[in-house]
Amino acid sequence: MARGTVAAAMAGLLLLTACGGGGKAANGSGAITLGFAQVGAESGWRTANTKSVQDAAKAAGIELKFSDAQQKQENQITAIRSYIQQKVKVIAFSPVVESGWDTVLKEAKAANIPVILTDRAVDSPDKTLYKTFLGSDFVAEGKKAGEWLTKEYASAAGDVNIVELQGTTGSAPANDRKKGFGDVIAANPRFKVVASQTGEFTRAKGKEVMEAFLKSQPKIDVLYAHNDDMALGAIEAIQAAGKVPGKDIKIVSVDGVRDALQALADGKINHVVECNPLLGPQLMDLVKKVVAGEQVPPRIETTETEFDQAAAKAALPQRQY
Ligand code: AHR
Repeated sequence: MARGTVAAAMAGLLLLTACGGGGKAANGSGAITLGFAQVGAESGWRTANTKSVQDAAKAAGIELKFSDAQQKQENQITAIRSYIQQKVKVIAFSPVVESGWDTVLKEAKAANIPVILTDRAVDSPDKTLYKTFLGSDFVAEGKKAGEWLTKEYASAAGDVNIVELQGTTGSAPANDRKKGFGDVIAANPRFKVVASQTGEFTRAKGKEVMEAFLKSQPKIDVLYAHNDDMALGAIEAIQAAGKVPGKDIKIVSVDGVRDALQALADGKINHVVECNPLLGPQLMDLVKKVVAGEQVPPRIETTETEFDQAAAKAALPQRQY
């Protein structure tokens, strides 16, 4: 069953695990309790991110209370409120969308529970509502995709028709990857985004929207997908329409999950911009520092690379996710 279908089938289900009470661990060990409100399980990237957080908490001796919001902001807010009630030591979360967090963040602040943003940012002007942000520069990722495209078509003549599969509407990666890419291609009027729609970061929706693009657009040269899962779904749609992905329609996507690197190695994707999901160990270090009252930088960005076909082939044997 496709990830998107699983998510839909489970919509509304909020899984709060290890629900002990108090800042002290439920097992009475005195370990730090961390409430982590995850976005969902929409993509291979997200699955790797969840595993990284769970494994790192275990390794660091931190008691993790984990919830899956099924890509719904209201579920994340409910989870954060539950963590506040349980008096966890620290709350970390990856906000599904950028806006609308001030009320619940103020509640955490009033309860003296520090908050760490991980992976995605919020647009709140009040930076005192959270301790730090740990994650990627999504604008830079979008720029890298645009720069690859500019080089790829440097010597080609005529217009380049691009279709864009956006991530979750209102999310930081969708907003920023669109902006970064748009800023780069705006310098050359030959590059035309002829259609742009959300594919919600899932394979199923990426396939569905690409099918619609293929019907409505007479000429598509390039697909820019805000994540690998949507690109992989789109590949199925392109093949079903009798076209060759990577040749008839060139594809650039973001993440660097194993299935996408394999598709790149096989020539079905042309370029992948990396977004690193392995944030768990850095997050646990930050949790310990915040609990110890140490100063932490306001923003910590992860180091990321890009993959062409040769780099994908070289990376595949060791790729963890
Ligand atoms: O926030 C990171 C993005 O969320 C990843 O690029 C995407 O795959 C995920 O769903």
